[in-house]
Amino acid sequence: MTFEQNAHHFGSFTMQRPQMGQILGVPLDQNTCNTWRDIWSFQAHPKDVLVAAYPKAGITWMQEIVDMIFQGGDSEGCRRAPTYDRHPFLEIVAPKPVPSGLQLAEAMDPPRILKSHLPIQLLPPTFWEQDCRVIYVARNAKDCLVSYFHFQRMNKGLPDPGSWGSYFSAFLSGDVPWGSWFDHVIDWWKAKDRHQILYVFYEDMIKDPRREIQKVMSFLGKDPSEEVLQKIQHHTSFQAMKENPMANYSTIPSFVMDQSISPFMRKGTVGDWKNHFLVAQNEIFEVEYKRRMEGNGLAFRTQL
Ligand code: A3P
Repeated sequence: MTFEQNAHHFGSFTMQRPQMGQILGVPLDQNTCNTWRDIWSFQAHPKDVLVAAYPKAGITWMQEIVDMIFQGGDSEGCRRAPTYDRHPFLEIVAPKPVPSGLQLAEAMDPPRILKSHLPIQLLPPTFWEQDCRVIYVARNAKDCLVSYFHFQRMNKGLPDPGSWGSYFSAFLSGDVPWGSWFDHVIDWWKAKDRHQILYVFYEDMIKDPRREIQKVMSFLGKDPSEEVLQKIQHHTSFQAMKENPMANYSTIPSFVMDQSISPFMRKGTVGDWKNHFLVAQNEIFEVEYKRRMEGNGLAFRTQL
């Protein structure tokens, strides 16, 4: 049953925000924790492609790009279903009767495009055993924080973020779903030369989408033809995705995602943190950022 049918089924159903649990110290939805054995033993196919990212780094954008590449630039093909039905979200266990990510994936023939927010140490080992291609999207911490705050406000599938001030501290200490931004981006970065991982920055995608799409195409072994490139760039622009019900999550009922609180396709820019961070918060952030990031060779841009 889809989210739409589910909404119809339950009428004016109101949704409880989830309980959280932990796997190896990483905060995850309790339903995910309860299903952890099955998630960990997921079986990938060598032709599957995984799109991975910390929450709010631009995974939906990358999913649409990869889907367009698989469809050879045919945007109608990408309109076959909403994002969450096209690309199983590996670790998601939605309230019944909505299928879990695992159930969706198992019902699909490879090559599948799969989605995950898992930190690398929690990614099921099958992806490495099968030598799958993984595209990892990373976004600067300040914009991620802002985007995540607004997303947790509007998405009842996640805990209430509380006030901006308390959320700011929770994010810095990694006490948010899927854990620490620092651990996530650093550990995926360290693994990128050991596996087939393409590490892409959101800021580069904003600055030069064409070049980043080309990179993804060649990583997936596709020759970038000019015509297909242009179609992908057009179909995956912020405006086009904002207006596309198959990419903007508007098919999820408002008792789950209330887009009147904050739209899923919210701003899509680099530097919105400047409209949220207080001067004192920025100072605290910079100290912690330096402490955690110094010497790891991973550089983010917080403005273009
Ligand atoms: P903002 O909240 O800053 O606007 P994810 O898909 O990982 O949940 O990330 C969502 C973020 O990516 C949102 O950021 C959203 O607006 C942005 N985004 C989604 N599609 C985009 C696109 N085509 N171009 C630019 N930003 C996009």
